[in-house]
Amino acid sequence: MPSVLVLNGPNLNLLGQRQPEVYGHATLADVEASCATHATALGLGVAFLQSNHEGALIDAVHAAKGVHGGLIINAGAYTHTSIALMDAVASVELPMVEVHLSNIHAREPFRHVSYLSKVAIGQICGFGPQGYLLALDALAARLAPK
Ligand code: DQA
Repeated sequence: MPSVLVLNGPNLNLLGQRQPEVYGHATLADVEASCATHATALGLGVAFLQSNHEGALIDAVHAAKGVHGGLIINAGAYTHTSIALMDAVASVELPMVEVHLSNIHAREPFRHVSYLSKVAIGQICGFGPQGYLLALDALAARLAPK
Protein backbone atom coordinates (compact mmCIF):
# COMPACT_ATOMS: atom_id res chain seq x y z
CA MET A 1 0.00 0.00 0.00
CA PRO A 2 1.62 3.31 -1.02
CA SER A 3 1.80 5.96 1.64
CA VAL A 4 1.80 9.73 1.61
CA LEU A 5 3.50 12.17 3.97
CA VAL A 6 1.44 15.28 4.76
CA LEU A 7 3.76 18.11 5.80
CA ASN A 8 2.52 21.34 7.33
CA GLY A 9 4.78 24.30 7.86
CA PRO A 10 4.98 27.35 10.12
CA ASN A 11 1.97 28.58 12.07
CA LEU A 12 -0.28 25.78 10.83
CA ASN A 13 -0.15 24.29 14.34
CA LEU A 14 -2.39 27.26 15.23
CA LEU A 15 -5.15 26.34 12.78
CA GLY A 16 -8.56 26.93 14.29
CA GLN A 17 -7.32 29.87 16.37
CA ARG A 18 -5.28 31.68 13.75
CA GLN A 19 -7.19 34.23 11.61
CA PRO A 20 -10.28 31.97 11.34
CA GLU A 21 -11.78 34.39 8.80
CA VAL A 22 -8.93 33.37 6.46
CA TYR A 23 -8.09 29.81 7.52
CA GLY A 24 -11.36 28.55 9.04
CA HIS A 25 -12.21 26.91 12.34
CA ALA A 26 -10.86 23.39 11.81
CA THR A 27 -7.79 22.56 13.86
CA LEU A 28 -4.74 20.78 12.45
CA ALA A 29 -5.84 17.68 14.39
CA ASP A 30 -9.24 17.88 12.62
CA VAL A 31 -7.54 18.20 9.22
CA GLU A 32 -5.23 15.27 9.94
CA ALA A 33 -8.12 13.09 11.16
CA SER A 34 -10.11 13.71 7.97
CA CYS A 35 -6.98 13.00 5.89
CA ALA A 36 -6.48 9.70 7.73
CA THR A 37 -10.09 8.65 7.08
CA HIS A 38 -9.89 9.65 3.41
CA ALA A 39 -6.51 7.98 2.89
CA THR A 40 -7.87 4.71 4.29
CA ALA A 41 -10.85 4.90 1.90
CA LEU A 42 -8.41 5.42 -0.99
CA GLY A 43 -6.17 2.55 0.07
CA LEU A 44 -3.29 4.84 1.00
CA GLY A 45 -1.19 4.93 4.13
CA VAL A 46 -0.62 8.40 5.56
CA ALA A 47 1.77 10.09 7.99
CA PHE A 48 1.83 13.65 9.28
CA LEU A 49 4.40 16.17 10.40
CA GLN A 50 4.09 19.85 11.28
CA SER A 51 7.06 22.06 11.99
CA ASN A 52 7.70 25.76 12.35
CA HIS A 53 11.33 25.21 11.28
CA GLU A 54 12.50 25.21 7.67
CA GLY A 55 15.33 22.73 8.33
CA ALA A 56 12.98 20.25 10.02
CA LEU A 57 10.70 20.33 6.97
CA ILE A 58 13.70 19.75 4.69
CA ASP A 59 14.86 16.84 6.87
CA ALA A 60 11.36 15.33 6.70
CA VAL A 61 11.34 15.58 2.89
CA HIS A 62 14.74 13.83 2.73
CA ALA A 63 13.58 11.10 5.13
CA ALA A 64 10.47 10.46 3.01
CA LYS A 65 12.52 9.01 0.16
CA GLY A 66 12.19 5.23 0.15
CA VAL A 67 9.47 5.38 2.84
CA HIS A 68 6.60 7.29 1.22
CA GLY A 69 5.31 7.30 -2.34
CA GLY A 70 4.28 10.95 -2.39
CA LEU A 71 4.13 14.22 -0.50
CA ILE A 72 1.45 16.77 0.30
CA ILE A 73 2.97 20.04 1.47
CA ASN A 74 1.42 23.17 2.89
CA ALA A 75 4.62 25.06 3.60
CA GLY A 76 2.83 28.13 4.95
CA ALA A 77 4.95 31.24 4.41
CA TYR A 78 7.98 29.15 3.39
CA THR A 79 6.07 28.57 0.14
CA HIS A 80 6.96 32.11 -0.84
CA THR A 81 10.55 32.18 0.39
CA SER A 82 12.21 28.79 0.55
CA ILE A 83 14.43 27.82 -2.34
CA ALA A 84 15.93 25.24 0.05
CA LEU A 85 12.60 23.46 0.53
CA MET A 86 11.99 23.53 -3.23
CA ASP A 87 15.42 21.99 -3.78
CA ALA A 88 14.71 19.30 -1.17
CA VAL A 89 11.53 18.25 -3.00
CA ALA A 90 13.35 18.22 -6.34
CA SER A 91 16.11 16.09 -4.79
CA VAL A 92 13.88 13.25 -3.58
CA GLU A 93 11.94 12.92 -6.85
CA LEU A 94 8.65 12.09 -5.12
CA PRO A 95 5.37 13.39 -6.56
CA MET A 96 4.31 16.37 -4.45
CA VAL A 97 0.99 18.21 -4.31
CA GLU A 98 1.11 21.75 -2.93
CA VAL A 99 -1.87 22.73 -0.76
CA HIS A 100 -3.02 26.03 0.69
CA LEU A 101 -6.17 26.57 2.68
CA SER A 102 -6.63 30.06 1.34
CA ASN A 103 -6.59 31.20 -2.28
CA ILE A 104 -3.07 32.63 -2.27
CA HIS A 105 -3.63 34.21 -5.71
CA ALA A 106 -6.47 36.37 -4.37
CA ARG A 107 -4.33 37.69 -1.47
CA GLU A 108 -1.32 39.98 -1.14
CA PRO A 109 1.08 39.98 -4.13
CA PHE A 110 3.90 38.40 -2.08
CA ARG A 111 1.71 35.29 -1.69
CA HIS A 112 1.26 34.91 -5.46
CA VAL A 113 4.79 33.55 -5.85
CA SER A 114 5.36 29.92 -4.89
CA TYR A 115 8.77 28.33 -5.18
CA LEU A 116 7.15 24.99 -4.35
CA SER A 117 4.91 25.14 -7.43
CA LYS A 118 8.00 24.71 -9.58
CA VAL A 119 8.49 21.19 -8.21
CA ALA A 120 4.84 20.25 -7.56
CA ILE A 121 2.72 18.05 -9.79
CA GLY A 122 -0.03 20.55 -9.02
CA GLN A 123 -1.27 23.19 -6.61
CA ILE A 124 -4.62 23.19 -4.80
CA CYS A 125 -5.62 26.38 -3.00
CA GLY A 126 -8.71 28.12 -1.77
CA PHE A 127 -10.77 25.10 -0.71
CA GLY A 128 -9.89 25.09 2.99
CA PRO A 129 -9.27 21.67 4.55
CA GLN A 130 -10.92 19.95 1.56
CA GLY A 131 -7.75 20.80 -0.37
CA TYR A 132 -5.83 18.11 1.52
CA LEU A 133 -8.45 15.52 0.54
CA LEU A 134 -8.28 16.60 -3.10
CA ALA A 135 -4.50 16.26 -2.91
CA LEU A 136 -4.89 12.71 -1.57
CA ASP A 137 -7.21 11.94 -4.52
CA ALA A 138 -4.57 13.24 -6.93
CA LEU A 139 -1.79 11.19 -5.34
CA ALA A 140 -3.95 8.05 -5.15
CA ALA A 141 -4.44 8.31 -8.91
CA ARG A 142 -0.75 9.02 -9.49
CA LEU A 143 0.43 6.13 -7.29
CA ALA A 144 -2.11 3.55 -8.49
CA PRO A 145 -0.51 0.58 -10.24
CA LYS A 146 -0.63 1.10 -14.01
C1 DQA B 1 -1.11 29.27 3.60
C2 DQA B 1 -0.93 30.56 2.79
C3 DQA B 1 0.40 31.20 3.11
O1 DQA B 1 0.55 32.40 2.36
C4 DQA B 1 0.48 31.55 4.58
O2 DQA B 1 1.74 32.10 4.88
C5 DQA B 1 0.16 30.40 5.46
C6 DQA B 1 -0.94 29.52 5.09
C7 DQA B 1 -2.51 28.65 3.39
O3 DQA B 1 -2.69 27.49 3.76
O4 DQA B 1 -3.43 29.33 2.91
O5 DQA B 1 0.75 30.24 6.50
O6 DQA B 1 -0.15 28.31 3.16
